[in-house]
Amino acid sequence: MSQPITPPESSGMGPVLAVCALVGIVTVAATVASGRATRVIERQNPAGPPAVITAQYGKRVIAQTTEVLGPDVTDAKMRYTASRLACASCHIAAGIEPGNLSLATAITRYPRISPRVGGNETIEDRINGCMMRSMNGRALPANSPEMAAMVDYLRFLALQDAATGAGQRKVHEPPAFKTPNRAADLKAGREVFDKRCTACHGKDGAGLAASTKPVDGYVFPPLWGPNSFNDGAGLHRVLTAARFVKAKMPLGQADLTDDQAFDVAAYINSMPRPEMAGLERDYPDRTKKPVDTGYPPYADSFPLEQHRFGPFQPIEDYYKKLPKAAQ
Ligand code: HEC
Ligand code: HEC
Repeated sequence: MSQPITPPESSGMGPVLAVCALVGIVTVAATVASGRATRVIERQNPAGPPAVITAQYGKRVIAQTTEVLGPDVTDAKMRYTASRLACASCHIAAGIEPGNLSLATAITRYPRISPRVGGNETIEDRINGCMMRSMNGRALPANSPEMAAMVDYLRFLALQDAATGAGQRKVHEPPAFKTPNRAADLKAGREVFDKRCTACHGKDGAGLAASTKPVDGYVFPPLWGPNSFNDGAGLHRVLTAARFVKAKMPLGQADLTDDQAFDVAAYINSMPRPEMAGLERDYPDRTKKPVDTGYPPYADSFPLEQHRFGPFQPIEDYYKKLPKAAQ
């Protein structure tokens, strides 16, 4: 690689070889990334594992989920999601983007105790949490090629993060969201939406499809409706959505105030979306349920409406005052 500097006329084959080597690497990477090798093996033996499970394939599953696991893929057995979102619709740039909903160090937090599950949760369980809620789908088997590849990719991201110098770690994000001490204003939220979101997500929040083929997914993902996340998803909690919106939206120009982020998040979450069955089983210890969880039952008597749209301070105060033993 380290060629001595030579005059142009006698530079020899160095650069040409370098280019050839580069093309070779790109070709191999492209083959793996497209998942072609994997699919050929699957067709020969659908029950068996693929020849190669790679982090690159995992990245593809996260970035182009509809093409691998979406409701329009040819192989009906592979239709794991009912939404037409990609994981990367929320975990921006396939989770590499730092800041809110980054996946850069996600794997280092697992296994852990999950209040929603009421027990231990592996990284596979957590991914399946997003599969069933954010992607409105069903769980992938823990030993499936797609799950293994996504976990490999998350492991790769964490290694890459560990090797990154502190100076490169800057997050270009506005200050963290602070919850306004009031109920969200849906009318004001609609105004923010009309002014700042429709250019990409459309007037009806239905997004912009990548092509005329649904399997290609979206350039600008749908914010509500049948192709979006369901009511059990993290983003269906208004404070989680407001944090994300303040940090990341409008994409490339995240400049909303706390009030605007709060109101527009509430507006989005007041619109119809798929419903998940069995949500009453979440958070078996109901004192651990986040105050903005938009579905009952609760360990308090605040109305459902207040859990969905605030004001949240009174609910937070109520739980803070509960005797520790009851929590
Ligand atoms: C609609 C938005 C959305 C989509 C789509 C989505 N997620 Fe998530 N994901 C979230 C939110 C919100 C959280 C919770 C963050 C928190 O706990 O604060 C989360 C959490 C996670 C975590 C845990 C992160 C951590 O640091 O603990 C992983 C891993 C993850 N998602 C992977 C995926 C994968 C893989 C997919 C696709 C199969 C996916 N997500 C699709 C919104 C989404
Ligand atoms: C410049 C285009 C653009 C604008 C304007 C924009 N977004 Fe987005 N938004 C995106 C893209 C693109 C994604 C998916 C992430 C990606 O592909 O990088 C996204 C993802 C989202 C998501 C998560 C995925 C989903 O479908 O639910 C939410 C929520 C969201 N945007 C809300 C908003 C809100 C609220 C506004 C207005 C304040 C807004 N966006 C303005 C481009 C935009």
